[in-house]
Amino acid sequence: MNPSQLIIKKRDRHSLSQEEIRYFISSFVKGDIEDYQMSAMLMAILLNGMSEEEIYWLTNEYIDSGVTLNFPESQGRCIDKHSTGGVGDKLSLMIAPLAAECGVMVPMISGRGLGHTGGTLDKLESIPGFQTQIPLDRFQEIVRENNFAIIGQSDNIVPADRKIYALRDVTGTIESIPLITASIMSKKIASGVDALVIDLKVGNGAFIGTMEHARQLAESISKIAMDFNKKIIIHFTDMNSPLGRYIGNAIEVIEAIEFLKGNMEPDLKEVTYQLVADMLILAGISENFDEAEIMMDQAIESGRALERFRKGIELQQGNPEVIDDYSLFPQPKHKIEIKAHRSGFIKNINSKGIGYALIDVKAGRKQTKDKIDYAAGLKLLKKVGDKVTKDELIAEIYYDNDHGNKAAKEIENCFEYSEDEITTTGRLLGTHK
Ligand code: URA
Repeated sequence: MNPSQLIIKKRDRHSLSQEEIRYFISSFVKGDIEDYQMSAMLMAILLNGMSEEEIYWLTNEYIDSGVTLNFPESQGRCIDKHSTGGVGDKLSLMIAPLAAECGVMVPMISGRGLGHTGGTLDKLESIPGFQTQIPLDRFQEIVRENNFAIIGQSDNIVPADRKIYALRDVTGTIESIPLITASIMSKKIASGVDALVIDLKVGNGAFIGTMEHARQLAESISKIAMDFNKKIIIHFTDMNSPLGRYIGNAIEVIEAIEFLKGNMEPDLKEVTYQLVADMLILAGISENFDEAEIMMDQAIESGRALERFRKGIELQQGNPEVIDDYSLFPQPKHKIEIKAHRSGFIKNINSKGIGYALIDVKAGRKQTKDKIDYAAGLKLLKKVGDKVTKDELIAEIYYDNDHGNKAAKEIENCFEYSEDEITTTGRLLGTHK
């Protein structure tokens, strides 16, 4: 087969066969198809879409590019959650230890930052020593010992997603239903879960801007779940403004630790509790949300969920003392205070704008080879619905390059104000039926 003929076939809106998809993905993983050819193919897929059958074969090829794990001893308790990507989304850092403490086994395979959104692996790697690339038998041992572990795609597990994900991040090819479906579902199926909870983010800061598009993605994901015989619950959640108060890497881990210490931002609590409750219900541990809520409150109040996170850090070779001493995280060199340019109620905080401004200060990548500055980030002192007066402090940006002032200005412009009081609704927008 000839790669350029297959690119032309997709460019001209024809369907690719199972053999063609297999050839293209496996040759790319082996290094026989170049990045520029894969980039062209990804763009053709983004523009022209894929049939249900093509998405199935694409997901299958991603999975087959590496090994598939299984946890027979889990007896249906092996459940993961995955998010479609957002700004300030540190949910995995709280959900994995909390669900683990409540009895779920969570073998989580996560990704790095994608476009304007952050990635769980980058956040975890801000913990000194933390390893997201560990041998798969060690990963399984840790899951068995501590009920959760979080690693990245590797040469052994979904290597196709590892390579393609990095390319999509820098080639404008993220927002494609077939590509998102294959990327998420391959990681989850390869990790050996029995069932899955999806946090499908919708809005300006997500890859999916409208409910109509979100429903299409949900449909695509649930078809693949059905094809692979996995139970699934899909929640639509609002991603128009950043989640929680911290956006970046190290500072998001700190916010997650604070959450596990019981200091919970309301929006983080709303989404975390709902998603963990669903995991407990799918695992047959709780009958309903109220029962799950009691378990989660006990896990947090007793400090057991926090201790599980501490142990998880230690087992993946991170320094667990960060839990008690935040000065052990990489520290920012500079800070700029951002002030309200007018009085009023905060109507919206443009999370995509914030995500891109933070890439300028190296909280995310412009190119795959870019190194992240783990200390760079943003703290929101005010959130949607808050009343502010002109020149009141609304946020602080942390950075260590020449772009701090420009990023601060852009972030200031991400705040929209209203004369009228704003009534905030929750983050949960409903489930896919
Ligand atoms: N998360 C993933 O793992 N893959 C995507 O394509 C988008 C979000």
